[in-house]
Order: sequence, then structure tokens, then C-alpha cells
Amino acid sequence: MPMNQRYYLSFLLPSLFLSGCADAALPQACAHPDPSIRSGDTEVKVYFGCGCFWHVQHEFVVDEMTKLCRQDGNITARTAYAGGTHMDNGLVCYHNALGKADYGQLGHSEVVSMSVPVSAFATFAQTFWDICPKGVRRDVQDIGGEYRSVVGLPGGIHSSLMKDLASSATAKLVPGTGNEGDTLGSDTVIVYDSDHFPAHVAEKYHQFHDDMMDHYGGAYHALRGFADNTKCPGDQSWSIIS
Ligand SMILES: *[C@@H]1O[C@H](CO)[C@@H](O)[C@H](O)[C@H]1NC(C)=O
Repeated sequence: MPMNQRYYLSFLLPSLFLSGCADAALPQACAHPDPSIRSGDTEVKVYFGCGCFWHVQHEFVVDEMTKLCRQDGNITARTAYAGGTHMDNGLVCYHNALGKADYGQLGHSEVVSMSVPVSAFATFAQTFWDICPKGVRRDVQDIGGEYRSVVGLPGGIHSSLMKDLASSATAKLVPGTGNEGDTLGSDTVIVYDSDHFPAHVAEKYHQFHDDMMDHYGGAYHALRGFADNTKCPGDQSWSIIS
């Protein structure tokens, strides 16, 4: 960890405790989606990544609740890994003490996958640019290919959804080829073809997780009950999480 980050952390960490870390309450799910969103629409699976996937998931869960009126088991946002060309025996996992299927070593980045009606994609793309202005993550201490800024669409840059992603874009969109390094300082966001670079859902213990800066409260954590265990080490035995 370079010196400047260490300084950053030494300022950041005490302020977490001084600020009291008030729990944010989850919003109520809406009763009816905006008429521009047709809930009977074809759904499309997409993913977005910009730094640590914990707070990115929270933003999209709020979107699903307040814009698609989803709750509980109908919420689809999941932390995941994507953008690498490799797997290890079919697995992609978080860093772990066993060194098994490490997502960073396998070329993947942290993302949040979700399924949304096609007519709602533009709204979700706007949320991505709000979270990731100019492709820049808010968690400056996270550096490396694991935290690169990415979007996954079926068909990639040839997707019909590209116009919605591009119309609100604040960074250059470049086609993904897999296993890229960090996008930091490049003003770019990588667009993957999710048919070739699918999202691999992350461990249950990484779902509906507090961010380093924000605590999201009990109702948010309880959503983890709707997430599935993976075959990754951290979900198989709590004792071997590094
Ligand atoms: C989940 O979605 C289905 C289909 O739209 C709906 O009937 C059901 O009430 C929803 N469940 C919750 C908990 O919102």
C-alpha cells in the first residue's frame, strides 16, 4: 500500500468512529413503477462495477426498490465478479486463505449484476454514472484491476442498450477484451459483452454488506437471507476466511 493511501486511511478510519456511523434505513418499496417503466417488459441481465462492490450493490438495491417496486426475494442485485477470461474448476471467488479461484488472479473485477426491464435500463445507467462520475470510484484506497470501472451488456458495445448508457455517459466507453488492469486516471469505462464475460455471483457473505464508509442497517442485512451460498471457501466454512 503506497504511503499516500496509508495517510488517507489514518485520517479516514478515526473519522468513521467519530461520525457515529448512523445506520441508514432502507427506503420503502414503491407501490407502482413510473409509467415509463413497463414491468411486463423483457428483462435484461446487466452488471456495473466501480470500485468496491459493497456500496454499488446498495445503490442498485435502492433503485430496484424505489423504481421497480421490488422487495425481498424479488430484488436481483448481487455482488459478483466479471471481466476475466479464467475460472478455476468453474469457480471465481474472493481472495481467500486457500488461494482458491482468486478473482483478481483470474482477471475479474468487482461488479453488481441485476435483471431489469429493458425500459428501465436508462434509469439504472444514470445511477451508474452518479456512482461512477467520469469512471472514477469513490473508494480511492481501492486500486488495481479488481476495481476497474465496467459495464456488462448482452452484445457489449453492439447492444441496443448502448445508446442509453452513452447518452448519460461522463467517460469514454471502450470494448472489453478481458483481464484488463485498472481504469483509474484513464477516463474510461470498459463495456463487456456479458454473453462472453458473464457475472459470477459472489459469496453469500459479500451480499448486502455494509460499505467501509456506510452502515446500511438491519433491514438491508436481512436481504442476505435471499442470497445463495456459493461453492467458494468463504461460504463453505467460516473458519477459513482470511
Ligand atoms: C414479487 O414479484 C411478484 C411478481 O411481480 C409479485 O406477485 C410478488 O408480490 C412480489 N413479492 C414481493 C415480496 O414483493
